[in-house]
Amino acid sequence: MHSQPIAIDPTGSADDSPAREVTVALLGGGTVGSQVARILTESADDLAARVGGRLRLTGVAVRNLERVRPGVPRELITDDVAGLAASGADIVVELIGGVEVAGELVTAALQAGSSVISANKALMAEKGGELHALAEQQGVDLYYEAAVAGAIPLLRPLGDSLAGDRVQTVMGIVNGTTNYILSRMDEEDADYAEVLADAQRLGYAEADPTADVAGLDAAAKAAILASLAFHTRVTLADVHCEGITEVTSEDVAAARDMGFVIKLLAIADTNREGDGVCVRVHPTMVPRDHPLASVRGAYNAVFVAAEAAGEVMFYGQGAGGEPTASAVLGDLVTAARNRINGSRGAAASTYSDVRILPIGEAATSYYVNLHVADQPGVLAEISQVFADQGVSISAVRQEGQGDQAGLVIRTHPAPDSALSATIEQLGLMGSVKEVVGVMRVVGEQ
Ligand code: NDP
Ligand code: HSE
Repeated sequence: MHSQPIAIDPTGSADDSPAREVTVALLGGGTVGSQVARILTESADDLAARVGGRLRLTGVAVRNLERVRPGVPRELITDDVAGLAASGADIVVELIGGVEVAGELVTAALQAGSSVISANKALMAEKGGELHALAEQQGVDLYYEAAVAGAIPLLRPLGDSLAGDRVQTVMGIVNGTTNYILSRMDEEDADYAEVLADAQRLGYAEADPTADVAGLDAAAKAAILASLAFHTRVTLADVHCEGITEVTSEDVAAARDMGFVIKLLAIADTNREGDGVCVRVHPTMVPRDHPLASVRGAYNAVFVAAEAAGEVMFYGQGAGGEPTASAVLGDLVTAARNRINGSRGAAASTYSDVRILPIGEAATSYYVNLHVADQPGVLAEISQVFADQGVSISAVRQEGQGDQAGLVIRTHPAPDSALSATIEQLGLMGSVKEVVGVMRVVGEQ
């Protein structure tokens, strides 16, 4: 059941009366949580005017009571996270991360009648279905704008502003850590481990950065984006995921030489029939003149192509405490207004019954870099392998001569499964000495 709606002053004036107060319990006082607490305190008057009632922070739950947390009121810090989650505050903000503990806390908060705001993509990608169902049953809000692409307003535009259109593709850079690493590898030939340590120091990376570099963070965000864009329920398990751990500085340099930059892209698109959606995350070569190529550092950008709207692009800071806190506070204002009005936002739209397609059915272009024997007939033999799999070659470049030559082949889009089979066949050929690099390509004209 919805907890009692807060009484409204019929005069409509923004005063401090207790009847117009909205209580907020904050779970987590780390990179994001401490910024949320700081802004809540410093901007209390502005936020009260926008909400129509004061937001009162009732507690900030953490593990380590000794840690110094600038901006967080000392007297509100507690280590009783379960107690705070179930305290029945009007709004509980979950900024702890992870799936199991956070899932239990969010469930307890919803059961206590609190609206919940979270920045936790892993939780929403894995348990979003059941948490939405519980929020609906309880008549409360569950918002998580900050979970995808940090500060960028993206989930609300997808779920509300584009709700009357038919989305065909969502494609973008949604992980700041990997974009920061790939950008510095491209710009400075920087060392991978050193750059990852910088991303952690700057607060971009997850507590365990494996989720970032293995692509799982981006995959969770892709699942959330695809669910909203295609009005269905996509979970983390539905997303094909490859991270950047195998991307070498040689790959980055080779891409640069050919006029490309390597980006970790999250892509969700429909098949030609419109009855299936394929969701994937993988390193991708993007032409340097493509808008996504100029997205550097921890910035994120997401393209949405829709039937009537055409192409729309969202761009901004995708990680970091303060930018992410901005999105959390936006949700907080919306949920608080709803609370004061005794209403709630729209439920998640999951009516569509599109199939989740395997990566093999995605239409992909490839770049293939081979070392081959430099002999008559080898090129013909190799192109026959592509032809046998129904893959059309768009460009071939040969470098070097003598015993071995470097052969760079680019293809037109073909089913990903046909391209995988082609690579497998090439690896078995005597004339192919080494498959040096293989990468998917998007954005070529
Ligand atoms: P941090 O690791 O910096 O902060 C986590 C906070 O949760 C800490 O205050 C920690 O306490 C507290 N905490 C963890 N476990 C418990 C527990 N069992 N009981 C009580 N408190 C606990 O994480 P971030 O702030 O970076 O991330 C928070 C959420 O926001 C995550 O879901 C993340 O994915 C998401 N997010 C983060 C972004 C970023 O740029 N950092 C961007 C977008 C989303 P203590 O401080 O004592 O260790
Ligand atoms: N670790 C994430 C990133 C934080 O690097 O993008 C934002 O979700």
